Amino acid sequence: MPGYAVIGGMWGDEGKGKVVDFLAQDFQYVVRYSGGNNAGHTVINDKGKFALHLVPAGIFWSSVTCVIGNGVVVDPSVLMEELTTLQEASVDTSRLVVSERAHLIMPYHVALDQLEERARGSGAIGTTGKGVGPAYVDKVARVGIRVGDLLEATDEETFLPRLEQVLKHKNAIITKVYGGEPFLVRDIYRKCLEWEECLRPYIQPTEVVLQDAIARGENVLIEGAQGALLDVDHGTYPYVTSSSPSIGGAYTGLGIPPQSIVGSLGVFKAYCTRVGGGPMVTELNDATGEKIRELAWEYGATTGRPRRVGWFDAVAARYSANLNGFTSAVLTRLDVLDGFPSVKVCVGYKADGKIFDRFPASISLMSRCEPVYEEFEGWDQPTASARQMAKLPENAVKYVRRLEELIGVSIDIISTGPRREETVVNRPFVRR
Ligand code: IMP
Repeated sequence: MPGYAVIGGMWGDEGKGKVVDFLAQDFQYVVRYSGGNNAGHTVINDKGKFALHLVPAGIFWSSVTCVIGNGVVVDPSVLMEELTTLQEASVDTSRLVVSERAHLIMPYHVALDQLEERARGSGAIGTTGKGVGPAYVDKVARVGIRVGDLLEATDEETFLPRLEQVLKHKNAIITKVYGGEPFLVRDIYRKCLEWEECLRPYIQPTEVVLQDAIARGENVLIEGAQGALLDVDHGTYPYVTSSSPSIGGAYTGLGIPPQSIVGSLGVFKAYCTRVGGGPMVTELNDATGEKIRELAWEYGATTGRPRRVGWFDAVAARYSANLNGFTSAVLTRLDVLDGFPSVKVCVGYKADGKIFDRFPASISLMSRCEPVYEEFEGWDQPTASARQMAKLPENAVKYVRRLEELIGVSIDIISTGPRREETVVNRPFVRR
């Protein structure tokens, strides 16, 4: 059986971790293709509550092999810590494989991320400060150090001069441009040796692992990180992440052919959130926004930052659906809207005296846009924990049906709570 992708439909934090954990039982592989530990996937199951940043959410199923693909940037210290936490909760981590081609997030990337953000002042992107952007910069600049390079770290004569050369350049920027503290090559080299010892058993040519799995007819669940509107090409540039969270990134970030992905599932919250800077047309800077934030505990899983909150933006959602070719959608956190007298959906943008429904590339235009809303009567009865569509209040069903029309994709799964069983399945996502 082929590959199915689970993609964040908007700016991330849509609840992909729960969805992947729920779907993973039907898959032999669960794989990550982009981003790094800027992601934070919360999973609650019988083993406990986990905030996963690098390890795919399929790790809790003993039949699943988890893959960190070549498109991911890996901070080895974070990965080692995450593995230890999982092992302490008796989760078997031996089924994890990490691409030898994935690039490393080095300590100087983390420092540069934070120094660059500080220097941006009021124009800050609001990065997670985990070194993700600077690691991708080095990948594209062809000076990155890859996971597979660790396997040669003990060959001091080859590895050390390379590290020295990169570090000389990084230290010059850190000290001369930003007035920061330089890194010592010996310290970083020592860390590389530690990482090599710990991570060696996990390092493999993952594109071959996956191509072979697909050839054997095994099924692969592709776990997106962040969301399509943070895509470096298609998102709200420059307020984006430095990778390709949309479907295109899955092909290059895993090394699998296009025909192997036959389904893509767009995950949308019943309202919108965003972390960091950049325009958000439906943002609610009022008591309603505050109420949603507190009810839903909209605070970042990675940084703890309060998330910006707004009504569902169907202009953005449709743009994302077209970009990713979603074959199904999941709606999460519908229960958060329980009890609101009315709920709104943005169906158009208004700027410079015009109304339009095309998601703009220009950030200055987007910043001037006002939302054009459709308003729906709310519902008093709870949707929380519902397991069947028939159990949802009539007005909640009307809301879901209208979202389907506006996004142009059928909502096949509705998540009504954080646990696996709090899920309504209208149509199976995986076709047999
Ligand atoms: P970076 O990925 O840390 O460079 O951050 C770039 C932008 O993407 C910032 O606005 C972050 O808040 C946002 N971002 C990165 N990862 C996530 C995520 O997992 N969820 C939501 N926003 C994210």
